[in-house]
Amino acid sequence: MDDKNKYSHTTTNDMANLHTIQKTSPIHTLLLTGAAGSLGKALRPRLANICTRLRLSDVTPIHNLTNDEEFIACDLSQTAAVLHLCEGVDAILHFGGISLEGPFEPILQANILGSYNVYEAARQHGITRIIFASSNHVTGFYPQDETVSIHSQRRPDGFYGISKAFTEDLANYYYDRWGIESLCIRIGSSFPQPKDHRMLSTWLSYDDLTQLIHAGLTTPNIGCQLIYGVSANTPRWWSTEGTEKIPFHPLSSTDSFKAEIATQPLPPPGTPNGDTKEVVLLP
Ligand code: NAI
Repeated sequence: MDDKNKYSHTTTNDMANLHTIQKTSPIHTLLLTGAAGSLGKALRPRLANICTRLRLSDVTPIHNLTNDEEFIACDLSQTAAVLHLCEGVDAILHFGGISLEGPFEPILQANILGSYNVYEAARQHGITRIIFASSNHVTGFYPQDETVSIHSQRRPDGFYGISKAFTEDLANYYYDRWGIESLCIRIGSSFPQPKDHRMLSTWLSYDDLTQLIHAGLTTPNIGCQLIYGVSANTPRWWSTEGTEKIPFHPLSSTDSFKAEIATQPLPPPGTPNGDTKEVVLLP
């Protein structure tokens, strides 16, 4: 797949401080789906040095655009609209969709059909690199004291996790069949700071997420790679496999938040690592 790879290599040192990276990236137009969401808002300023033009998309309008940004409203479940959205794009950060457990039908539309539309539009437009915001909920039914790897059998803890597992398979298929390379990041909990005991293990800082995205966009020949997106926290629930291919060296950890969170009650033994309490079934 070498001839399909448009991106140059970036060293670990370069990634240590993304704000020092000059605009030398060969990525001209980078599409960010889900740009109006929490991670979209956090990533926008952090992506400014990764590309020349950032195309933002969401069902929710975005008005505060910088000179290097453009916005195209798009419902990911609409095939023709997604095809139009991806026109002229060099790489995609696919972050749009429903981000929590809920009823199946909206997840089917936004996450399953939506991801199919994104990959199919990429194929039709010759886009060869996608970073997909997958989720730890693909393996959310493992107990918290068991270390899970990217090779562990999936144990999704809801329709949301199932939709992420579907897109990971979709990414594999589009690589094997069409050579479209993907980094599927099973994001832990990406928030400004960890909020509870679970997040002491699952937290991924915005800076570490940005580093991972940058590595995913610039590392050559990644094929279709899975990785857990988590900062350098202890205890760690997920193995570091994938980092031998994607140079990811998290710089954040939850250590400085432990004392504050220690006052909260501990989860009962045997709690699944996804800790998804909501169960959604038809009556
Ligand atoms: P979010 O819910 O804040 O943002 C998702 C965005 O997708 C929203 O702005 C929403 O309007 C948009 N969206 C929903 N349905 C859509 C559709 N049919 N068409 C177009 N846009 C649609 O979620 P957040 O936290 O920003 O997460 C971004 C991505 O990362 C999601 O895919 C989520 O599943 C994934 N993720 C996030 C984690 C986190 O800790 N924030 C953890 C694991 C995965």
